[in-house]
Amino acid sequence: MQPKRYLITSALPYANGLKHIGHLAGAYIPADIYVRYLRSQQRDVVFVCGSDEHGTAIPIQAMKEHTTAQEIIDKYHQAMKEDFSDLHISFDVYDRTSSKLHHETAREFFSFLLDRNELETKETEQFYDEASNTFLADRFIKGTCPKCKSDRAYGDQCETCGSALSPDELINPVSTISGNKPVKKKTTHWYLPLAAHENFLREWILQQHKDDWRASVVGQCKSWIDGGLQSRAVTRDLDWGIKVPLKDAEGKVLYVWFDAPIGYISATKQWAIDHNKDWKPYWYDADTQLVHFIGKDNIVFHCIIFPVMLKLHGNILPTSVPANEFLNLEGDKMSTSRNWKLEMRDYINDFVKKDNGGDQCVDMLRYYLTQIAPETKDSEFTWKGFQDAVNSELVAVFGNFVNRTFVLMHKLCAGKVPAYHPDAEDAIDRQLREDIQAAKKKVEDSIEHYRFREALFEVIDLARKGNKYMQEKEPWIKAKTVKENPLGQLAIDNCLHNCLQLTANLAILIHPFLPSTAVQMCKMMKVVEKMLDWSNAGGLKLLSVGYSLREPQLLFRKIEDEEVTTQINKLKSASMSTTESSASASENAFLPLKPEITIDDFGKIDLRTGIILSAQKVPKADKLLQLEVDLGFEKRTILSGIAMHFSPEEVVGKQVIVVANLAPRKMRGIDSNGMILMAEDLSGKLYFADAGSLSKGGWKVS
Ligand code: MF3
Ligand code: ZN
Repeated sequence: MQPKRYLITSALPYANGLKHIGHLAGAYIPADIYVRYLRSQQRDVVFVCGSDEHGTAIPIQAMKEHTTAQEIIDKYHQAMKEDFSDLHISFDVYDRTSSKLHHETAREFFSFLLDRNELETKETEQFYDEASNTFLADRFIKGTCPKCKSDRAYGDQCETCGSALSPDELINPVSTISGNKPVKKKTTHWYLPLAAHENFLREWILQQHKDDWRASVVGQCKSWIDGGLQSRAVTRDLDWGIKVPLKDAEGKVLYVWFDAPIGYISATKQWAIDHNKDWKPYWYDADTQLVHFIGKDNIVFHCIIFPVMLKLHGNILPTSVPANEFLNLEGDKMSTSRNWKLEMRDYINDFVKKDNGGDQCVDMLRYYLTQIAPETKDSEFTWKGFQDAVNSELVAVFGNFVNRTFVLMHKLCAGKVPAYHPDAEDAIDRQLREDIQAAKKKVEDSIEHYRFREALFEVIDLARKGNKYMQEKEPWIKAKTVKENPLGQLAIDNCLHNCLQLTANLAILIHPFLPSTAVQMCKMMKVVEKMLDWSNAGGLKLLSVGYSLREPQLLFRKIEDEEVTTQINKLKSASMSTTESSASASENAFLPLKPEITIDDFGKIDLRTGIILSAQKVPKADKLLQLEVDLGFEKRTILSGIAMHFSPEEVVGKQVIVVANLAPRKMRGIDSNGMILMAEDLSGKLYFADAGSLSKGGWKVS
């Protein structure tokens, strides 16, 4: 029995930065494939997503960009929404958790649980930063991961291994705000007592879903449950977030992982308002299939905490949570701080928006990311792999089959769908027709079990069979002798008839994966997009005999070697510039201070104003500029490591501050006499320390 309706969600991305292709492959493309497949069967489906705009990640990004949290969420909400749309992720609604509707929905949810005594309060001691007068929730505190020993672990989660953490588990915790060691201070919060729901969780996940959920998902849940379920705080001491709906809860907000999943509900409500629909059955009617597409670091929230909340609130539970593992890039983990990543936006600019790009480049990325989707284990994106997938599968197998079919049909069958002559049918024809019919079932079965790699493989495999069929039939050879042997035309007709029906089938089957390609194929076949309905798959009469078709157009272009090299170089140089300029900047919004010095220590430094008279690049040293600086009483040659940031022309005439009594140092055979003071922001961008509007150098700086 088919369920009445589907509600499909993709993890709400944090609005604290652009998202990379690991996110895309993990939670967005698979969901989009699934949704497009359901829609092509006319099922009732709503696909919701939106920006996750609360939590400490937002104010931290605001500190880094020297702006407000509001500006950060406005900027990244818009940017993420555009990127998803450019890559044809077809959300029915892309909402945001800062909306009024969401704030109300989340508060109502909290009050509902509170009124029914499902939450408990506890006073505990929590980390507190005395320098900034704030409690250090979640990402405001960082330290070493107790599990993998990475130093990129936060109070809620380790960036490296993805483990969920609590601040007390961190080794050597420090404040992200000041870099200081925190103290402990008492505070009261509301908790969701998970232990009270252990039996429910065991029964629901470890019994009911032990076979139909992914083994990695069940495994992670099992180890959580077996490890002893702790009460989870659902509030925080923060000023960014949804205010706790109680009078005596000044300075407290809902925990981001409490409000964000409720965002799926608010987004459904927003969709219903926009389309004049009723949202309630999607969250209350047992005949709804709720499916959450997420990355593996989100499993505990979607399989344990949110389901408990949903159960208590009287909602339906997810039917499945197909979580993906991680996608690596060119031999290393993707990482924002090390700049080892491919942002969706970069791909869009470098491929989709180029003259030879467009929709086919969207589909090329969707293809490769599905082909390597980390469904059961971590997988890897390489530019060479991308090139191979495009050139030797999309171009050489799929595109080639469609193109050959069209070219030969125009040449040998007058541009029309030739008749099928059952009397002239042979075993090879019959086999191909069976393969076409069998493909539908295989693709369906794989998609319905969230095995998208396998499903896509089946589609390409069908195209491969088409090529093989054509090769065996060789209609172009038969055409040479058709004058002497008129029966040969029957075989030619049968071959191209089958190839054309196969092309129509390929369009239907590829449609959920590569939507633009399918539409393009419809244009070539001169059929309406309605033909892409899944119910047509397996059909052998999709194109009518005698129907004339358009000239073929190439569906995919090749990826050239230079494009691969350019991208690899770009990745390497981007990551190099961050490791060099901010290796010491770490992730703190501000660097910790160096140890205290005395006035006498300071007095040893002789700072003078100066004016840059001339500048030139130092040969074979990428980073160095050779400067002539006028200190008023003398002219100096100073080498400065700013060549990656400023051109020689830009700096001539600049007023600068110089450490004038620094011991001379030889670099690249040139004596450098002093040092120019610069300021550096968190992104590693350099600024001249402003020496005011001087007309001459030499003045003492104090
Ligand atoms: N913003 C979270 C992340 O990027 C995901 C939130 S999913 C939701 O890891 F369920 F909370 F919405
Ligand atoms: Zn870790």
